[in-house]
Amino acid sequence: MLHTSRSNRDRRRRLDRDAGYGAGYGSEYGFEWLTIRHSREWVCSQAHGRTLELGVGTGLNFRWYPDEVEMFAVDLDREHLEISADRAQELKRKIRLAVADGHRLPFSDDTFDTFVCTLAICDVDDRTATLAEAFRVVRPGGLLLLLDHYEKRWRHRRPATIGCQVGFKLLDRQRLWAGYFERVRLQKPAI
Ligand SMILES: C[S@@+](CC[C@H](N)C(=O)[O-])C[C@H]1O[C@@H](n2cnc3c(N)ncnc32)[C@H](O)[C@@H]1O
Repeated sequence: MLHTSRSNRDRRRRLDRDAGYGAGYGSEYGFEWLTIRHSREWVCSQAHGRTLELGVGTGLNFRWYPDEVEMFAVDLDREHLEISADRAQELKRKIRLAVADGHRLPFSDDTFDTFVCTLAICDVDDRTATLAEAFRVVRPGGLLLLLDHYEKRWRHRRPATIGCQVGFKLLDRQRLWAGYFERVRLQKPAI
């Protein structure tokens, strides 16, 4: 029994690390504390209503969402989602989890009040297609909340810039760690 729970802990630690950048990922005291600080909380605490998190990984954001948020979360990786499901259960949160690709989301137009994506736009193959999908599934007046990092190959087309190109309006843009990380709030214009 002890052996089983230890191997589960090891698996979770490994997958938390795989989903991120190494030791301290998801920890308030490790690498994240040095770099993004309270950005997970900054992003998630602004979510409201029906909310979709894309590229949820191992569910490290779950504890920061307000209780009243109706949560949906998707990822391409089934193993990451299994850890997410465990986390949701521990937190006693009802979160609908599904394997799905950000390029073709299995949701109707104008479904969500809030769309969240942290440290995952850097991982998708086509950032423009993914953010266009975000625009499609968010209702007019709804929010897009992003936390991401700079990549040299992107030059001036960071996720927030692409978000504006697909139709969102930028409300707030904050840079951290000498601009390497960026957290942003955008809105789909109301009709
Ligand atoms: C670096 S991890 C970040 C995980 C989580 N958002 C966090 O902040 O801890 C990136 C996640 O994006 C997922 N991902 C990559 N491409 C995807 C896609 N096209 N659609 C959905 N999820 C994707 C990966 O499987 C991985 O779990």
